[in-house]
Amino acid sequence: MSKPTLAFIGGGNMATSLVGGLLEQNYPANNIIVSDPMEENRNRLQKQFGINTSNDNLSTASQADVVVLAVKPQVMKQVAQELSSALTHQPLVISIAAGIPLSSLQQWLGENTPIVRCMPNTPALVQTGASGLFANTHVSTEQKASATEILGAVGISCWLETEADIDAVTAVSGSGPAYYFLIMEAMEQVGVELGLSQKVSRQLTLQTALGAAKMAMESDVEPAELRKRVTSPGGTTQRAIETFIDGDITELFRKAMSGAVERAEEMAKEMAD
Ligand SMILES: NC(=O)c1ccc[n+]([C@@H]2O[C@H](COP(=O)([O-])OP(=O)(O)OC[C@H]3O[C@@H](n4cnc5c(N)ncnc54)[C@H](OP(=O)(O)O)[C@@H]3O)[C@@H](O)[C@H]2O)c1
Repeated sequence: MSKPTLAFIGGGNMATSLVGGLLEQNYPANNIIVSDPMEENRNRLQKQFGINTSNDNLSTASQADVVVLAVKPQVMKQVAQELSSALTHQPLVISIAAGIPLSSLQQWLGENTPIVRCMPNTPALVQTGASGLFANTHVSTEQKASATEILGAVGISCWLETEADIDAVTAVSGSGPAYYFLIMEAMEQVGVELGLSQKVSRQLTLQTALGAAKMAMESDVEPAELRKRVTSPGGTTQRAIETFIDGDITELFRKAMSGAVERAEEMAKEMAD
C-alpha cells in the first residue's frame, strides 16, 4: 500500500527531526513536502533530505493526506485559519504545538477536521522523544496509525484517553528533560566540590544518567526494585538515598509537576483567547 503524503507546515527544529526520523525509517522522500516562508530553511531541508519544499502553505496542504502543523504556538491561529480553505479533502491534521487545545484548532481549521493533538518533547531532536497523542472523534483508525508512525519516527508515542491527559504528559515528559538536566547540573557541581575536575564530573554524571535509563528500560523489574538492588544495607548508596527520602523527594516532584500542570492549563486558556 502506498504511504500517505505528508505536508509539514513550518520547517524548523521539530519538522527537521520528524522528517529525518521518517527518512531513516525508509519513508519515501517523494511523499514529504515542507512549507516554510524562509528560503534558507527550504534550501537546507532540500539539501539535507532531498524532499520537496514550498513557500505556499495552502497548496502544500491541499495535496496531502496528513498535514503536520509544526509552527510556533504564537502563529498557529493565523496559520490554521488560513489553511482551513485547503482542507476540504479532510486530511488528518496533527498539531505538535504546545498548549493549543483541540477546541481552538477545530474552530480555526473547521469543526469536522480530523485532528490529533500531540505533545512531543525536546529529545525528539535526537530521535529519543516521548509523545502523548489525543485524537478527536473524526480521526479514523487508519489515520491514528499514520500519526503513530510519524511520531514514532522520533521516539515513542502513547495514545491518551482524555485531552486533559495532555497536561499530565506535559508535566511528565514535556517538561521532564529539564528535570533531568537539573539533576545532572547538581550532581556535576557537587562532584566538583568533592574534588573531581569539571570534565570528569560531567562525563561520569552523564554516563550514569544514560546507564541508569538503559538499565531501567532493558530490565523487567521496576525502577524501585533496581534501586533496592544497588543499595546495600549500611553502604554508601543507602546513606545518600536516605538524605533524598528525608527531604521528601516525592513531595518535591509532586509540587513541581502539579505546578507544570497548572501552568499548562493557564497557557491553554491564554492561547484560546
Ligand atoms: N522543539 C521542541 O522540542 C518541541 C517540543 C514540544 C513541542 N514543540 C512544538 O513544536 C512546534 C515547532 O517548534 P520548533 O522548535 O520546531 O520551532 P521552530 O524551529 O521555530 O520552527 C517553526 C518554523 O515555522 C516557520 N514558520 C513561521 N511562520 C510560518 C508560517 N506562517 N507558515 C509556515 N511556516 C512558518 C518558522 O519560520 P521562521 O523561523 O522564519 O519564523 C520556523 O522555521 C511548536 O509549536 C512547539 O510548541 C516543540
